[in-house]
Amino acid sequence: MNVVILAAGLGKRMHSDLPKVLHPLAGKPLLAHVVATARSLKPGLICIVYGHGGERVRAALAQDDLIWAKQEPQLGTGHALAQALPHLNPKVPTLVLYGDVPLIRAETLRSLCQAAGKGAALLTVELDDPHGYGRIIRSRGAVRRIVEEKDATKAERALREINTGIMVLPTARMKTWLAGLRNKNAQKEYYLTDVIAAAVADKVPVSSTRPGAAWETLGVNSKAQLAELERTFQRNVAAALMQDGVTLADPARIDVRGSLACGRDVAIDVNCVFEGETVLGDGVSVGANCVLSNVKVAAGARIEPFCHLQEADIGARCRIGPYARLRPGTTLAEEVHIGNFVEVKASQIAARSKANHLAYVGDTTVGRDVNIGAGTITCNYDGANKHRTIIEDDVHIGSDTQLVAPVRVGKGATLGAGTTLTKDAPRGALTISRVKQITITGWKRPVKKK
Ligand code: UD1
Ligand code: CA
Repeated sequence: MNVVILAAGLGKRMHSDLPKVLHPLAGKPLLAHVVATARSLKPGLICIVYGHGGERVRAALAQDDLIWAKQEPQLGTGHALAQALPHLNPKVPTLVLYGDVPLIRAETLRSLCQAAGKGAALLTVELDDPHGYGRIIRSRGAVRRIVEEKDATKAERALREINTGIMVLPTARMKTWLAGLRNKNAQKEYYLTDVIAAAVADKVPVSSTRPGAAWETLGVNSKAQLAELERTFQRNVAAALMQDGVTLADPARIDVRGSLACGRDVAIDVNCVFEGETVLGDGVSVGANCVLSNVKVAAGARIEPFCHLQEADIGARCRIGPYARLRPGTTLAEEVHIGNFVEVKASQIAARSKANHLAYVGDTTVGRDVNIGAGTITCNYDGANKHRTIIEDDVHIGSDTQLVAPVRVGKGATLGAGTTLTKDAPRGALTISRVKQITITGWKRPVKKK
């Protein structure tokens, strides 16, 4: 089968410089959702008809298996489909999708294709408010034609069965029908919908099917509709997670923008956002207001509220947060504790080590059973280059210490509070750099002159 995705429309009502089909839903462009669903049907080819914001659309979706057909100017949906014709295999049917109808499901499309057989098939729905859509005109039950809202009589407008726009057509005949389209209508456009009357005239059977759910066929024309479909998408994700046994404090307050794989007995509190590919192991809990992006969390780890975790690998039974920030390249072994206002970047921390308060650990290798005191900072950047810090096993670092990299702290060493470490600290010993404390007795505070 050929798949053609119509995506040349202007999207005026989005009031945006971004082409409509590139507006993100669940973190990826509307058009990318449609492409992914199309791909899952394993078609012979996928052709995207683009126009408005053309190069940006192509660049955003750049993938080898996509064929691009430019439509300029945009003279209607029939004219749009005609631009794809040179690319299509005439021997197999063509499925027409819309780039701004992102939630259509593969099962729905499969049954539409089945219904078409060697003929044509339309995906239709009944709406309480059909305003704005093309209406399906039947006689004795059979589809005869489609009439657009703007061209319809009062009686036709009263019909509630509408054209979703998604259809399957026999490609070789479609070519003839498209060539015969005229734009003598209210919008002076070449309507794709007019091919249905042409099919009926040619005695090609036109069947119709319904989608599994009405939301599958909803399009995005405005920011309000975009937000509505985002909620539908997220509701479906939440339902699937709960179906698999995940505990959600509130299924209406979770956002998954990518994939979220969960083990058994995972619990997620309110207002968490998951981006990219995130994996939560058995028994993991995520507190309220966390953002996790491409993170792997091993079994039994606890993420406390208000954490921002990015491209990090978190070991079993770790305790992270509240208010922790893990940046890309962070790898934590089991039972590591990262507490409030601690930032870790491009660092590996071995088992049972702790940085519980107010610290920056960057470009650092930390051994096991290390304690990093409050206010400790690795000075990894000299203004031009980044340097590594190495902290070996069993080290104890006192509060408010700066480690000026490159520097190494030997196994079992202790650094006194307030140390500015500029040379390696030997193993097993106490290293301290601190101005000697003095007391000046009899010193008088200055007083304000009168
Ligand atoms: C179209 C259908 C209508 C159906 C409705 C469902 C026609 C004539 N009408 O109407 O029966 O109920 O969709 O939403 O087909 N596009 C192009 N090039 C163009 C015009 C449109 O690529 O020149 C693309 C748009 O980007 C969009 C799709 O085709 O993805 C539908 O276009 P739109 O203008 O929304 O069609 P409607 O007038 O709403
Ligand atoms: Ca539309």
